[in-house]
Amino acid sequence: MKILVINGPNLNMLGIREPEVYGTDTYLDLCNMLTDYAKNKKIDLEIYQSNHEGSLVDKIQEAYFKRFDGIVINPAAYTHTSVALLDALKSVNLPCVEVHISDVTKREDFRQTSYVRMAVKKTIMGHGFKGYIEAIEYLLNN
Ligand code: DQA
Repeated sequence: MKILVINGPNLNMLGIREPEVYGTDTYLDLCNMLTDYAKNKKIDLEIYQSNHEGSLVDKIQEAYFKRFDGIVINPAAYTHTSVALLDALKSVNLPCVEVHISDVTKREDFRQTSYVRMAVKKTIMGHGFKGYIEAIEYLLNN
C-alpha cells in the first residue's frame, strides 16, 4: 500500500503557530509519528508539505502518475478557498481522506466551507495528530 500524506500552508509551523489551537508538538514530531506508524505497518508512506497552492496541485497529480493507492490531505487554509485542489483530487480520482487537527466546525464561519470535501471519502477533524493515523487506517480498511 502506497500512501501520500499532503499538508498545506503553515502546517510546517506546528509547535510554533497558535499552540492553544494546534498543540505544542512540532511538524517534525508529526512526520516522525507517521513514519514510525508506517514502518510498523509496512506501508510505503510519503509525506509532503507546501505553502503554495500550485505545488500542492502538482503533488496530487504526481500521486496518480506514481501510482499511489490513496491520499491523506490536510489542505489547511486552502480547504476553505481552493477549487484548484478540489479539481486536482477529482482529476486523479484516488481514495482520499481530509484531515484537520482542530475541530473546524467549532471555529470561525469562514472555516465552515470545504471545497475538497466534495472529492474525499471521509473527513476527520478535531482528533489532533492522531487524525492522520485514523485517516491512513481508513484507507487501509476501505
Ligand atoms: C486546519 C484548519 C484550517 O482552518 C486552518 O487554516 C489550518 C489548519 C487544521 O488542521 O485544523 O491551517 O486545517
